[in-house]
Amino acid sequence: MQQRENWGSKVGFILAAAGSAVGLGNIWKFPYIAGENGGAAFIFIYLICIAIIGLPVLIAEVLLGRTTQRNPVGAFRKLSNSKIWVSVGGLGVIAGFVILSFYGVVAGWSFGYIIESIKGTFFEFSKVGDSGAYFTSLTSNITWIVGYLAIFMSLTMLIVYFGVQKGIERASKIMMPLLIVILLILMIRGLTMEGAGKGIDFLLKPDWSHITPGAVLIALGHAFFTLSLGMGAMMTYGSYMSKKDNIPSAAVQIVFLDTLVALIAGIAIFTAVFATGQSPDVGPGLIFHTLPVVFTKMSGGYVFSILFFILLTIAALTSAISLLEVVIAYFVDERGWKRHNAVIVFGIVTFLVGIPSALSFNVMSGFKIFGLNFFDFVDFLASNVLLPLGGLLISIFVAYIWGFDKALLNLKQGAENLFDNYPRVVFFWKIFLKYFAPVLIFLVLLDSTGILSSIFK
Ligand code: PFF
Repeated sequence: MQQRENWGSKVGFILAAAGSAVGLGNIWKFPYIAGENGGAAFIFIYLICIAIIGLPVLIAEVLLGRTTQRNPVGAFRKLSNSKIWVSVGGLGVIAGFVILSFYGVVAGWSFGYIIESIKGTFFEFSKVGDSGAYFTSLTSNITWIVGYLAIFMSLTMLIVYFGVQKGIERASKIMMPLLIVILLILMIRGLTMEGAGKGIDFLLKPDWSHITPGAVLIALGHAFFTLSLGMGAMMTYGSYMSKKDNIPSAAVQIVFLDTLVALIAGIAIFTAVFATGQSPDVGPGLIFHTLPVVFTKMSGGYVFSILFFILLTIAALTSAISLLEVVIAYFVDERGWKRHNAVIVFGIVTFLVGIPSALSFNVMSGFKIFGLNFFDFVDFLASNVLLPLGGLLISIFVAYIWGFDKALLNLKQGAENLFDNYPRVVFFWKIFLKYFAPVLIFLVLLDSTGILSSIFK
C-alpha cells in the first residue's frame, strides 16, 4: 500500500486548518449577521460560543483524525464497529459535496467581482439600489454565474490535485500570510476614514435589546460553520498530523486566527460602511451591494475594491480546498482511488451539483423546495442541519462511545506538558464536550426545525 500523505510541518497544518476556518463565513457572513443582530452584543455571545463549544469540538475532531489517520468514514470505522457511526462519517463526506456546491457559487461571485473592480464598474454607482441592480443583472446571467463557478472550482481542484504537502500546505503557506496583509491594509484604511468612530462604536457598544434566543442560536450555528466543524474537514486535516504535535495548542491557534480575521474584517467593513453613511443591517447583500458604493465614495476606492475581492476569494479558496479534500480523502483511503483521478472526477461532480445553485438566481428562481430556492435550500440544509447534526454526533461519539479515557490518552500524546501542568484545562474540555456541546447543539438543531422559534414567539 502507498504511504499516506502528511503535513510537512506543524505550522503547515495550522495554516491549512486556519485557512479552512477563515472563509466566506468570516468576511461575508459574520459582518452581516453581526450587523443584523445588533453588533457588539452579538459579537460577545458569538465569542462565548466559540470558546465553550467551538474549541472543544474542534479538539475532538482533530483528535479523531490524528488518532485514526483516516478520512471521516475510515475514522469511525476504525474506532467502532457500528454501521451507524460509519454512516455519520459518510454524512460528513456528503456534506462536503453539498457545502462546496453552493460555496463555490458565492466564491465565484467574489472572483467575478475582482474583475469588475479592475474594470472600475463600481464607479458608476452612487447608491445601493444601483449596485444591487447591477448584482442582480450579473447573477441573472447564466454564463457569468456558471462561468465563475467553473473557474473557482478549477482553482480548487488544481490545488488539491497536487496533494497534501505540495498542494494544500504550500498554497496555504502563501495565501494565508497574503490574506492577513491585505486585511490589515483594509482595516487601516477603514480606521483612517472620517467618521470611522461610528463603526467602532457599533462593534464595541453592546445593545442587549437585540439579543433574542434566536440571535444566540445564530451565533452558535455560525461558530460551527466558521470553524469548519461538524463534517470532518478538521478530522481529515487532523489525519495528516503527526502524533508528536500538540492538538490543544494547535486548536487554540486556529480558533484565535479565525476569530481575529472575523473581527478585523468587521472593523474594516463597518468603519467604511458608517463613514460613507451606509446602513449596517442589510443582510447578505452587505458585501456585494453595499461595499461597491462604499468603494465609490472613499478615496483610493479603486485599489481597495480590488484588494478586498482578492481577499475574499483567497479566503474562500483555502476553505474550498478543505471541503474537496474530505471527499478526496474518502475515495483515496476507502476506495483505493488515485488522488489525481479522484480530484478530476469529484471536482467535476461538485461543479455539476453546484449548477442548480447557480441557476437559482436566474432560470430556476421559481423552483422551490420547502419554500426555498435551491441555493437557499442547500445552504440551509448544510449550515443549519448537516453541520450541527455532525457536530452533535461527533461530540457524543468522543464523549460516550469512544470514551473519554481513551480520548484523553490519545490527546495527551504531544501535549504532555499541558496535561501535567494544567489538569484543569483537561477537566474543562471534558465538561464542555460531554454536557454543554450536546445540549446546546441540540437546541440549534431544534431551532432549525422552527420548533424553538415558534415557542419563543
Ligand atoms: N469555515 C468556512 C467559512 O467560514 O467560510 C466554511 C467551511 C469550510 C465550513 C469547510 C465547513 C468546512 F468543512
